[in-house]
Amino acid sequence: MRARKSRGEPIAALTAYDYPSARLLDESGIDLILVGDSVGMVVLGLPDTTGVTLAMMEHHTRAARRGVTHALLVADLPFRTYETPAEALAAGRALSEAGADAVKLEGGTAAECAAIAALTSAGIPVCAHLGMLPQHIKEEGGYRRKGRTPEDAARLEAELLAVQEAGAALAVLEIVEAGTAARLTRAAAIPTIGIGSGTGCDGQILVTHDLTGAFPWFRPPFARAEGDVAGEMRKAIAAYVRQVRGSAAPASPEP
Ligand code: KIV
Repeated sequence: MRARKSRGEPIAALTAYDYPSARLLDESGIDLILVGDSVGMVVLGLPDTTGVTLAMMEHHTRAARRGVTHALLVADLPFRTYETPAEALAAGRALSEAGADAVKLEGGTAAECAAIAALTSAGIPVCAHLGMLPQHIKEEGGYRRKGRTPEDAARLEAELLAVQEAGAALAVLEIVEAGTAARLTRAAAIPTIGIGSGTGCDGQILVTHDLTGAFPWFRPPFARAEGDVAGEMRKAIAAYVRQVRGSAAPASPEP
């Protein structure tokens, strides 16, 4: 990924939580697949990511792993599983054993840097996650843009350099003001992967359900749907219901 940054080749990343989605992404040539804790919201129907457990992440990482042969597979360490270096190591090892090539954790304070250092020393590569931190949604009170003031931009730059120094291999920048994200990207040696942070990052990531239109009840304003999976499913389901109720030939008649 560092070589991609130095060559100026953008990194394309998306989320997957199951075998068919991971395999479709991998076969389509994606660079990085994230088994994100967004699984809690777009698959499990939870209100945010704070209810996602390590057991859930292991389950979804194992499923995604079976579909991936080329892309880098990164899995999220869930909320409160990396408060100490020892906890981070235990959770990181569990996700590595489930098949993750790297793990991601949110934040750039001293505690998170200690977790990053412990994981990387144990041979588990880490993707940092700065800017809007969904696991802190309850304290933050919403998905607000970061890095809008010079002070906040300076804080983010200090955090990015700190996670890099601790050993992070790359960093997601979520909902960071575009100019700030571009400046952070230039300041860092490690690649930045933006989400809702403008075009100045080294790569881009989206929740696949937002990109494909598979979660029609909510889509963040920065994500443009390039498909209508929910609409296609609704059409197929309605056709099936009509067939079963007798107004058309069944979809799977007896051979
Ligand atoms: O969980 C997730 O899907 C993420 C992305 C939004 C970067 O962390």
